[in-house]
Amino acid sequence: MAELRLEEVQYQYQKTGQQVLKGVSCCFEGGQLCAVIGPSGSGKTTLLSLMAGLDRPTIGELFVDGEPLSRMDFDCYRRERISMIFQSFQLFPLLSILENVCYPMELKGETKKEAEKRAKELLELIGITKEKHKRFPSQLSGGEQQRVAIARALSSGARILLADEPTGNLDEENTGHIFRILQDLAHQQGYCVVVVTHDLQAAELADRIFQMKAGQLIEQKSSRCTRSICSGSST
Ligand SMILES: Nc1ncnc2c1ncn2[C@@H]1O[C@H](COP(=O)(O)OP(=O)(O)OP(=O)(O)O)[C@@H](O)[C@H]1O
Ligand SMILES: [Mg+2]
Repeated sequence: MAELRLEEVQYQYQKTGQQVLKGVSCCFEGGQLCAVIGPSGSGKTTLLSLMAGLDRPTIGELFVDGEPLSRMDFDCYRRERISMIFQSFQLFPLLSILENVCYPMELKGETKKEAEKRAKELLELIGITKEKHKRFPSQLSGGEQQRVAIARALSSGARILLADEPTGNLDEENTGHIFRILQDLAHQQGYCVVVVTHDLQAAELADRIFQMKAGQLIEQKSSRCTRSICSGSST
């Protein structure tokens, strides 16, 4: 299963000199839903940007399935190994729901027919029914749009899913729905899911909760028997 490990990661914004991450070490594993909480400005998005390969740490290293990220082709990493979803959904407004999910696959060179087949499977997985496939994003509710964004993120085939406040624009019911989808993707499909959220109630659905504090990532809750714990202990 996919694994993303951070080792003593530090990050300083060059223009301002602000050191946001001061030595973050942790390991996110496939099969787990991990939540990252913490006050505004504490560095959650910065952390996710490094994990998404959008920027490089000032000091420290990230390892993807044991391979140092600094030695990997960043474009390839972003295209194939990780996917991101955002608070603002970021769907293409002039493409239909189906076209939105097909788009990354067609960019990768898949035929329209292959892409549509996979897109329909993914839309079914996250509960968007067939009659909505031809609609534009503006013709769906916020919760439905975020589900489409998740389907599009999964279409790349990446096994690591990063989400930055994916339910920030949603009501309580839709927030619960999105978190349960993320939980299913981790538990049933083996994805490594890391979600940044301000919603502490929703975060409780995660297997592990981390808090960003003073540039450190501190684990607060670990409810699941992880592979490493299971294999290392019989208690
Ligand atoms: N591009 C940038 N250049 C300089 N400083 C930045 C930049 N982006 C963010 N920062 C600063 O880095 C710190 C961490 O920002 P970050 O966006 O990671 O916080 P966050 O925890 O995601 O906050 P929020 O919960 O409000 O989204 C903040 O003090 C912010 O002002
Ligand atoms: Mg943020």
